[in-house]
Amino acid sequence: MYNGIENITICDHPLIKHKLTMIRDKNTGTNEFRAIIEEIAMLIGYEALRDLALEEVPVETPIETAMCPVIAGKKPAIVPILRAGLGMVGGLLKLMPAAKVGHIGMYRDEETFEPHEYFCKLPSPIEQRRIYVVDPMLATGGSAVDAIKLIKQRGGKDISFLCVIAAPEGIEKLHAEHPDVKIFVGNLDRQLNEKAYICPGLGDAGDRIFGTK
Ligand code: PRP
Ligand code: URA
Repeated sequence: MYNGIENITICDHPLIKHKLTMIRDKNTGTNEFRAIIEEIAMLIGYEALRDLALEEVPVETPIETAMCPVIAGKKPAIVPILRAGLGMVGGLLKLMPAAKVGHIGMYRDEETFEPHEYFCKLPSPIEQRRIYVVDPMLATGGSAVDAIKLIKQRGGKDISFLCVIAAPEGIEKLHAEHPDVKIFVGNLDRQLNEKAYICPGLGDAGDRIFGTK
């Protein structure tokens, strides 16, 4: 819940807070950064998957045959926004090893902060799958808004967005443009700075995951 809006969840878990402190530290190296992003993605994913639909199937236990719940429907799709979103995929695949993975390539222009698309490949039939769009950072919200627009243009309907850190500006923009999308946030940070970086944030997530720059 955020500002009374039900489909926004700030995960607010002590384990997430502790792990976030470790990756905010500029002295944390690539290897550890990458591992912790994956762990946080798993914790956020646990929350985001809470309402997965179930169906009952017969199972023979050593004692008797029982009707037991399994996840129902088509395999979900995990869709990272490249590059940094790739860092969250492993965590979600640990929760749903059979999920399909799509990719959307977006980068922010460093001067205008406007997002640009360079790649999109989604598992079909995308309209029948639950879709989990992942990106560690929700800053101005431009990349997430455009990525979700692309998914909807290709037929995607049941969409959740998972991020590790969000700025209030990003949450508000994403919810305003896509009010149907469920948003899961590891932590809500204070604000954006003049370069549209999240404060206190963790810097450039893509560079820290891939050891670039
Ligand atoms: C970062 C981040 C998001 C975007 C968030 O990606 O991973 O995709 O910025 O900013 P926004 O909410 O203002 O759009 P970046 O463009 O730096 O690309 P990268 O993942 O390739 O480093
Ligand atoms: N993208 C990042 O990687 N970090 C920010 O703080 C903002 C956008």
